[in-house]
Formats: sequence, structure tokens, C-alpha cells
Amino acid sequence: MTVSIKPAFRNCLLPLQPYVPGSSTEEVAGRYAPIRISKMGSNENPLGPGPKAMEAVRNLAASLSVYPDASAGDLRAALAAAAGKKPGNFFVGNGSDEVLLLIAATYLNPGDQVLVGTHTFFNYEFVARVFDGEVHTIPTRDLRYDLPAFSAAADARTKLIFLCNPNNPTGLYFTHTDLAGFLYSLPRNVLVVVDEAYGEYADAEDFPDTAALMEDFPNLVAVRTFSKAYGLAGLRVGYAMASETIVKDLRQVKMPFNVNLPAQKAALAALGDAEHLERTLGLNGEGKRSLTRELEKLGCEVLPSQGNFLCFQPPGSAAAICEYLFRQGVIVRPLNRFGLDRWIRVTVGTQNQNSHFLEALSAFFSA
Ligand SMILES: Cc1ncc(COP(=O)(O)O)c(C=O)c1O
Repeated sequence: MTVSIKPAFRNCLLPLQPYVPGSSTEEVAGRYAPIRISKMGSNENPLGPGPKAMEAVRNLAASLSVYPDASAGDLRAALAAAAGKKPGNFFVGNGSDEVLLLIAATYLNPGDQVLVGTHTFFNYEFVARVFDGEVHTIPTRDLRYDLPAFSAAADARTKLIFLCNPNNPTGLYFTHTDLAGFLYSLPRNVLVVVDEAYGEYADAEDFPDTAALMEDFPNLVAVRTFSKAYGLAGLRVGYAMASETIVKDLRQVKMPFNVNLPAQKAALAALGDAEHLERTLGLNGEGKRSLTRELEKLGCEVLPSQGNFLCFQPPGSAAAICEYLFRQGVIVRPLNRFGLDRWIRVTVGTQNQNSHFLEALSAFFSA
């Protein structure tokens, strides 16, 4: 008889696939040794963190022996002031990944149903499975969320619905009216989590105002992050905006010091750096327009994006193109793991990075 040397893995974890992040600079440098590298596969801010956030981190080295504020009070107060809400409407986590995990930890009983879409961020399914939720996947329609299909699928067992807006990896979005109608169609004990990780980039006039919708629909939670437009992915700060009741629930479940001191200070400083945000959004808007134009000239189908990335379908094998781009030092995201084998996601970069990407792609097509 063989004796197991460890406890059995929980059954609900067996279908889990490990998360595969976008390739790192070190990985591509080690494998291909290209002359230069443009990292355009993880939707980071190509300008980096803003000067105020960097200064905040530099200034706190001598305070690192002290525990951070367990309630992230200053940051929550600043988020509240910016959104016209109360600090009690904000919950801060170690990246929005942790916020998503804690939402599942707080509300899911084994077997509760969780609705997620196809072709979206992997973590919704992941957090649901970690807490033994029963994941029900609703297919997209023309690559967009089919909200009426979500409404039709929601039943008495449905506890949580995860939506990503604008969606990663497509960049497509649903409107304020779409979301309001959807919320109206659901029982109020179903929690609707709208992940707005790229919300700062969205400039469509009819993009949802989740802060306003929350007044009528207390079962709505918006999740945002400092990893994208604020350029602080390495520090790990994300947050939920929700009713005070939901925030209280989440605080009951979190580890006491889940958000470290540099993260709190840098996020606070970043919120006060309107100039860096403006530069970030300006660069992104320009880059998105010129990349779209050039990609279309090369025969690619490009989805209209409300994020800091473009999702495009090239004429030819996406896998072969990604491999070629990697060899040239351009890190993009092949979308086979998102169920989109023929599509590629590229982060909008600096002008230099965008040119590097376009030159490499043109070279592939003319080879
Ligand atoms: C849609 C979406 N949500 C959440 C995250 C996680 O962000 P964070 O760095 O805040 O954990 C990402 C990161 O890529 C994302 O694309």
C-alpha cells in the first residue's frame, strides 16, 4: 500500500489551471537575446509610475519597521473624496486580484453558482473554484458580453456574477444603460462584481457610472486597480467600491495588514498626481489611434478598445506571428488561453515601443 506524503488536494481545486502571466523581459531576453525588448504583453503603464508616487516610496524607507494602517484609512478617504462617496464605501486589497479572491471568500458557500463570461480575465473562474463555487460560463455574442443570457441563467443558486468592463482581452465594453437594465433584471441578493481594472482609460460617453448605479443597486461592486493607469503593478494595490455593508463584510475576512506601507503611500500620492494620469491617458489615446490605423493597413481586424490595449486578428497564424514578435523582442499576448486562437493582444506603448511592434509585424508580413 502506498502512503501519501501529503494531504489530498481539495477536489474543487483539481480542474484549476495555474495562471500563466504575460512573458517577462528576463524570459524573452534569456530565450531569444533580442537587441531590444518592448514589453507589451501585460497592459502595464509604459510611462511607469508617476513622479509623486516614486517620491512617496523613496521617502518612507525609514518607516519600514512600522506596520501599515490596517484599514488603509488615508487611501480610502482619498478614494472617497475623488468619487463623491464615503470612506466606508471602499475596501483596499493587495492588488485587485486579492479583492476578487476576498469577495469569493466572503460570500461563496460550496456549490453556490457563479456566472462568468467566455473570453475574459481568468481570475473570476479561479477565485470561484478556490471556494468551491459552481462555475457557469456564459458564451459571448460577437465577442461581447451577452447580458440577457446572464440574466436568463441566473437562478436561486446564483450568488455571484463577475463581469469585466472594458473586457480584458477584447477591450469591448457594455454601456451604462446595458448595466442598469441588467441589474434591474436580477434579484438583489445576487452580487454583481464589475471589474473596471481599465476603467480610467474608458472615454466612451455611455461607459457605466458604477458609483451612481450603486445608489440604486446595493448589490453592485466595482473593482479597480492602481496597476494599470496609475503604473503601480509592482506594488499591488486594488480596491472595491461598494455599499458600506459589503465593505464591512470584506473587512471581516481580510488579513490585518493586507496592503503594505509603500503600496498605501504610493497609491495615495498617485491619486493626487492628475498630471501623470493625464499624460498616461493622452499617450494611450494617441497610441491606440495610430496602432489601429497601422494594424488595419496591414490587413488586421482590430476591435475598438476602451482599454490600454488592442485585440487584433492578423491575416495568418497568430501563433507564428507571436513567435516572430518574441524573437524580435516584442512581447505581446497570444490569446489562445482566452479561447481566441486567432487573436493577439498588444498593450499600447510609448511611441518607440509602438514603432518597434509595427516594424516587427511589417517585417513578418513582408518576409
Ligand atoms: C481585468 C483585470 N482585472 C484584474 C487584474 C489584476 O490586477 P491587479 O494587479 O490589481 O491584481 C488584471 C490584471 O491584468 C486585469 O486585467
